Amino acid sequence: MIMAYSALELVPREIAGHPEVRKYAERRNKPPTKVILDKSYHYHAMSKLKDKENRGRPDIVFMFLAAALSSPLNLRGMLRVYVHTRDDLVIFVNPKMKPIRSYERFLGIMEQLFEEGRVPPDSEEPMLEIKNMNLRYLVKKVIGSEGIILMDPNAPLVSPKGVAEEAKELPVVVGGFPRGDFGLDAYKLAKRRYYIFPTILDHWLVADRIIASFEELAGIYQ
Ligand SMILES: C[S@@+](CC[C@H](N)C(=O)[O-])C[C@H]1O[C@@H](n2cnc3c(N)ncnc32)[C@H](O)[C@@H]1O
Repeated sequence: MIMAYSALELVPREIAGHPEVRKYAERRNKPPTKVILDKSYHYHAMSKLKDKENRGRPDIVFMFLAAALSSPLNLRGMLRVYVHTRDDLVIFVNPKMKPIRSYERFLGIMEQLFEEGRVPPDSEEPMLEIKNMNLRYLVKKVIGSEGIILMDPNAPLVSPKGVAEEAKELPVVVGGFPRGDFGLDAYKLAKRRYYIFPTILDHWLVADRIIASFEELAGIYQ
């Protein structure tokens, strides 16, 4: 499962000098450009940022990882999750990683990941690694798939079970952004496009429902 075009990034240079950001970074004991951009803390600073509605939502990734990593499917070693960001970075998540329970701790871990490239930085088997790559490269070269199943609002309705049935062949892609659309890559890669419910649901819930259906199909509760 891939969370794509996620609103996860460091504070961009253009707003690093804003008092709101400086104060926040001081409190966290880090330079302003080394803290994760978060709308709930940097709301005013972000007012002039391009595409601001779709940026600074690390909580989306936090919730997604909490749901995915604590799922029985993951505990059985049958799930792989990747987080692709709007800047074409991809976070490789070790399925053995323990879910991060505290949001503050999550931010600290993401900051360390952006700074060091892996967490823990000196481990031979890191829990998280971040690499420069676009969605196409991740899907085609890393996962080795022909395409994706895109969770897209303009697509036909299919039950989570229906999506899970096809997820044996293709990775499922859920958007990691609060509004708007996926980047072009996602539409080009989409072999199938589905929506599981007629109204917008939370990202983590969509992921959870598809994972749960896959668990049923895989018979892990028997
Ligand atoms: C909050 S939405 C992003 C907004 C986007 N305009 C939309 O309506 O999908 C975040 C992501 O969650 C997934 N999602 C949300 N509601 C869904 C639903 N009812 N069925 C399937 N996926 C859904 C989609 O992948 C979407 O990109």
